[in-house]
Amino acid sequence: MRLLIAGGAGFIGSAFVRRRLATTSDEIVVLDKLTYAASGANLDTLRANKDTRDRFRFVLGDICDAATVAELVADADAVVNFAAESHVDRSILDSSAFLRTGVLGLHVLLEAVLAARARDAKPRRLLQVSTDEVYGPISDGTSVETDRLNPRSPYSAAKAAGDLLIAAYHATYKLNAVLTRGANTYGPRQHPEKFIPLFITNAVDDQPLPLYGDGMQRREWLFVDDHADAIGTVLDGGEAGGTYNVAGTHECTNRQVVQSVLNRLNKPWSLVRTVPDRPAHDRRYAMDGSRLTALGWTPRVSFEAGIRVTVDWYRENEPWWRSLRDADWDEYYERQYGWRLSRSQDA
Ligand code: NAD
Ligand code: TYD
Repeated sequence: MRLLIAGGAGFIGSAFVRRRLATTSDEIVVLDKLTYAASGANLDTLRANKDTRDRFRFVLGDICDAATVAELVADADAVVNFAAESHVDRSILDSSAFLRTGVLGLHVLLEAVLAARARDAKPRRLLQVSTDEVYGPISDGTSVETDRLNPRSPYSAAKAAGDLLIAAYHATYKLNAVLTRGANTYGPRQHPEKFIPLFITNAVDDQPLPLYGDGMQRREWLFVDDHADAIGTVLDGGEAGGTYNVAGTHECTNRQVVQSVLNRLNKPWSLVRTVPDRPAHDRRYAMDGSRLTALGWTPRVSFEAGIRVTVDWYRENEPWWRSLRDADWDEYYERQYGWRLSRSQDA
């Protein structure tokens, strides 16, 4: 297949591209705007590797740019959309880019797929990568694909809007669309603003680890390569119009995550500081993943093994994450954590 991968220079997208090139004979074009969250280095090995470089091309561009998208979609057999602003805390500070990429950008992709189908009658598949956060918090049990959506942050509202557009285009135009909703994902190459890499990299520098509220919020954790492979399984075998939860392998509290990270780094709990909570902080996410496992996907990486690999990767790749901690990072960090850390307490 010829795949167009939007947002393929980011954390999960670059893992998908690497694994897909390694395990199939697909040709891949990545369209990515290279926002602050992306790292050009994420795809460097593909450009350098002689087995993959002839099947891989990078295009710097925005999914909101209809002309660029139309040209690339015309040449593709399928489109996978990872492109999004991906951090809840930044969406609380300023949500405009979240809505622009998540809603208007996805709309551009959908229209391009429809227009290309009208020209050449090829039923191109579009897979939209979404999140468990669209379900909102659940106190017990697991969310199933048919549950009502209850987004509570600007990030999850933008993602939920995308999910609804996918459903509408499938219903109205019979567009060959599929949707995945993934659990909290961790692993190498995640931007250091996110929980696990933030805590690893701050701990390496013996800096405070800002734990929101009581730290008893629960998430399901999924290793990045497992998430990437799940998306491949749905791309190849998912039913048109179908939604597939990609459940995590391990549900635990944020405190337990932090303890696992500190154990691997051999750093003390005294680095952890309780700071004022994120507004509307969802208490717990958990999903039923049986619809996807029926397609043949099972995760391979346990949480214990995944945390080892992740911590070791950040320790061994300091230039990668230090280069992302630039002047913009300092400004964000001060805005997000300056006042919180000034009110912090022992955790
Ligand atoms: P990320 O921020 O690392 O990557 C997003 C990529 O999209 C970046 O390379 C960025 O440059 C690109 N991008 C952003 N706006 C763009 C635009 N307008 N045009 C072109 N490219 C653009 O995020 P990630 O963690 O890899 O997440 C990828 C997708 O998976 C997102 O849609 C996210 O909502 C979803 N998701 C993430 C998680 C998680 O825990 N990280 C869990 C479930 C779902
Ligand atoms: P995050 O990686 O932002 O993912 P999400 O909010 O999308 O689940 O955060 C994971 C959890 O970690 C979430 O409960 C918020 C918490 N958290 C902190 O306690 N401190 C932090 O500095 C960050 C970034 C997150």
